[in-house]
Formats: sequence, structure tokens, C-alpha cells
Amino acid sequence: MIAVPKLPAHGAEIPALGFGTSPMTGSFSADEIVTALKAGYRHIDTARKYGTEREVGQAMRASGVPRADIFLTTKVSHENLREADFARSVEESLNALKVDYFDLLMIHWPNIEIPVPEAVKGLAKAKRQGIARHIGVANFNTTLLDQALSVCPEPIVALQAEYHPYLDQTKVLAACRKHGLAFVAYCPLGRGRLFDDKVLQEIAAGRGRTVAQIALRWLMQQGVAAIPRSSNPERIAANLDVFDFTLSDDEMRRIAALKRPNGRIADPKGRVPPWD
Ligand SMILES: NC(=O)c1ccc[n+]([C@@H]2O[C@H](COP(=O)([O-])OP(=O)(O)OC[C@H]3O[C@@H](n4cnc5c(N)ncnc54)[C@H](OP(=O)(O)O)[C@@H]3O)[C@@H](O)[C@H]2O)c1
Repeated sequence: MIAVPKLPAHGAEIPALGFGTSPMTGSFSADEIVTALKAGYRHIDTARKYGTEREVGQAMRASGVPRADIFLTTKVSHENLREADFARSVEESLNALKVDYFDLLMIHWPNIEIPVPEAVKGLAKAKRQGIARHIGVANFNTTLLDQALSVCPEPIVALQAEYHPYLDQTKVLAACRKHGLAFVAYCPLGRGRLFDDKVLQEIAAGRGRTVAQIALRWLMQQGVAAIPRSSNPERIAANLDVFDFTLSDDEMRRIAALKRPNGRIADPKGRVPPWD
């Protein structure tokens, strides 16, 4: 079994490589999560919005992996951030997953109509009730993160945001490091856009690795967690196999230099904060 390092953050121990379950990249079934758990993934990322919580819960039970060994994240959607809606959404997630706690509960996206102090109330409450072992935010810019940190009565342990070689996240990463938060990278494979990249292909060929493994290793070496998704059993296993080689400083720099102004993928109009 591949030993996946854990990232410590305010008492949380987050497996650095997890498995994504958003159905946006194609057909989805509980089988792929069972495959991932059997391959050694111990960090599963879902969200109320994805509609995959039921399958994630089924897969966790079917896999035979003890609940206590799995780091389970779910998220509350931007339209449910007021306190009563938040509590209802959390209840729905517990019922769909058939679990009695989440390891990490996150605000999925900020909502410009619901101030941050209101939004973090439900988050902090879930933590105090023991429903969420840890809490975090996703898609917050550094201004919103600072606000959340200053008003939230419970520690925020992680920020989840898009990150891959085509997107510069220097500022958000620096904010996470400054406050001791884990940065969890979503779309770590650029949702498939990285695979034709000549630089990544060249580095991958030189090391006898896949482009996906190079992209994931680049994140691991920055101390960033990543949650790639694949529906293919071979790729699910291969994506986890990134802990027995090290990219050189030069390779790390060449990959970082691939960032581009139009590199962002998740950019829903009307919902996004001004990005850093
Ligand atoms: N918080 C948020 O707002 C947010 C937003 C987006 C995503 N997320 C989370 O992040 C997770 C990952 O993001 P994502 O699913 O959008 O994109 P991703 O993981 O960057 O890319 C997934 C795509 O890459 C392909 N792929 C995976 N491994 C591969 C490999 N080794 N070789 C070739 N192709 C490969 C997959 O196809 P195959 O299935 O054919 O392998 C799929 O089309 C999501 O599932 C979700 O949990 C969170």
C-alpha cells in the first residue's frame, strides 16, 4: 500500500492526495470510489452540490475500509450559507452519506449577498456540535479568508481552491502558509487540459512517468494537497503513485513557469470573488 503523507493543519491530519468525486468530468459511479479506497486513497472529497454523497457513503461502506481511516470532506453550497439553511444542508449531507461526522466541512463558494460573519456561524456550529471534526473554506480570495479567520470562533484548517501548473496561486498559497492552513488543490490535472503540454510531456518522458504524475508531484513538493478525479481504475492507481521520486528545482521552476493569465477553469459568473 502506498504511504500517503499527511498535512498537519491546526490539529487536522489531511492525507496529501485525495480523490475527487465531482461528476463534471464524465460518468460517475460508486465503483470508482471503491476502486480508489482499495488502491489506498484515504481522503475523499464530495459536496452537497455534486449529488454524489449517497454514492460516496455507499462506496465507503462497500470498500471495507474503516470509517475512522477515511478523511471525508463535504461542502455546503453558496445558496445555503444562512444559519438555518446551513444546518439543514449539513443534516442532508449526513443522511445522504449515512455517516455521523465529516472530517472536514467547507463552505463551497462565498456568496456576495451573505456576509462572511453570517456564513461562518453555521460552520463553527457544526464544529462545536462534533458533526465536523474540522472546518474550512473553498474558493475564498485572501480578503475573504482574512475576514473568515478574524470572525470564526473555531480554527479554519484548510482552503480548497483551483491549482495546477496553468494557474498562479502564489498569493493564496502564501496566505495559507502564513495562517497554518492546508491548501487543497482542486482540478489538479487542469481537468484534462495539461495532457498535451510539451514541457510536462518532456519532464514526464525523462522520468518515465505520466503527465498526471508530474503535475501531482509538483503540488506535493509545495506541501499542497490535491484531489484528482478519474473514472479509470489504472489512472486512479497511477495518480496515487507519486511518492517515490522527486522533481529537481529546475523541473519545479519550469512547471511553475507554465502559469498563464487565462489558466483558470472554475470561474462561474456572478459567484466568484475578485481573484487574487
Ligand atoms: N471546491 C470546488 O469548487 C471544486 C471545483 C472543481 C472540482 N472540485 C473537486 O476537485 C476534484 C478534481 O477536479 P476535476 O475532477 O474537475 O478535475 P481533475 O481532477 O483536474 O481532472 C479530471 C480529468 O482528468 C482525467 N484524468 C485523471 N487522471 C488522468 C490520467 N492519469 N491520465 C489522463 N487523464 C486523467 C479524468 O478523465 P478519466 O475519468 O477518463 O480518467 C478527468 O476527465 C473534483 O472531482 C471535485 O472533488 C472542487
